[in-house]
Amino acid sequence: MKTTTISAVAVFAALTSAHSWLGCTDHDNVEILKWMKGNSTLTPPVTIDPLMPWFSNFCKGWPRAKQNPGDWIAESSNYVWNIAANSFNGETGACHPNQRGPNYEGNAPMATARPGGQIRLMFGGNGHSRGSNMPKGDAGNVNVYWKGEPEAEITDISEFTEENKLQSDGFSAESFAYPAGVVSPTEGLQDKGNWQTLNIPQTIIPGRHMFVWVWSYGGAPQWSTCFDVMVQ
Ligand SMILES: *[C@@H]1O[C@H](CO)[C@@H](O)[C@H](O)[C@H]1NC(C)=O
Repeated sequence: MKTTTISAVAVFAALTSAHSWLGCTDHDNVEILKWMKGNSTLTPPVTIDPLMPWFSNFCKGWPRAKQNPGDWIAESSNYVWNIAANSFNGETGACHPNQRGPNYEGNAPMATARPGGQIRLMFGGNGHSRGSNMPKGDAGNVNVYWKGEPEAEITDISEFTEENKLQSDGFSAESFAYPAGVVSPTEGLQDKGNWQTLNIPQTIIPGRHMFVWVWSYGGAPQWSTCFDVMVQ
């Protein structure tokens, strides 16, 4: 029975502390964003959730070891990589153990892109998009790290450097949240869909490129997801 207690506590901790992860690395959010906005104006408002298992047909590229469609409730406790907690215990891997190589499910392949193109990363706002429950009320940044060449792997959090940083955006820079003015889930904040449009450099060399998406807040990297993009 002890194991039951421990895992229940772990799930509880995961659900109550701020956390997020990439659910998709090439997400077509055109239709769904329109639906989210439209449905939020209905009486009563209807929430459209872009996280899996729903609407997985809009996902064209997947993170490492992601199931298609997968389930955000299960992923919330067994797929996220908690950098702060793990590095406190001396484990400084950049990626979740299941994401330490280009491992993909057969029906959930890595994204493809062209030099100078874009892919849209998708993650959950989880009630934090307007700074709720965050240090100093700041939802922080999402950063993408990259070694700059094909088949090169970032393995340790010490490699989250300015030199390796490809792009940085606000956690909520491309989010849809409603109602206006409301900041916390207890007041009714809905912020299911957050995105980050990643610009693939014009000069990138064709081949498989490994990237690490990192949500940073409170001055430190906190959560990561690792993924690859096949540049053609
Ligand atoms: C609400 O979302 C559904 C998809 O679930 C969509 O078909 C419908 O057009 C949306 N309604 C509005 C008013 O946007």
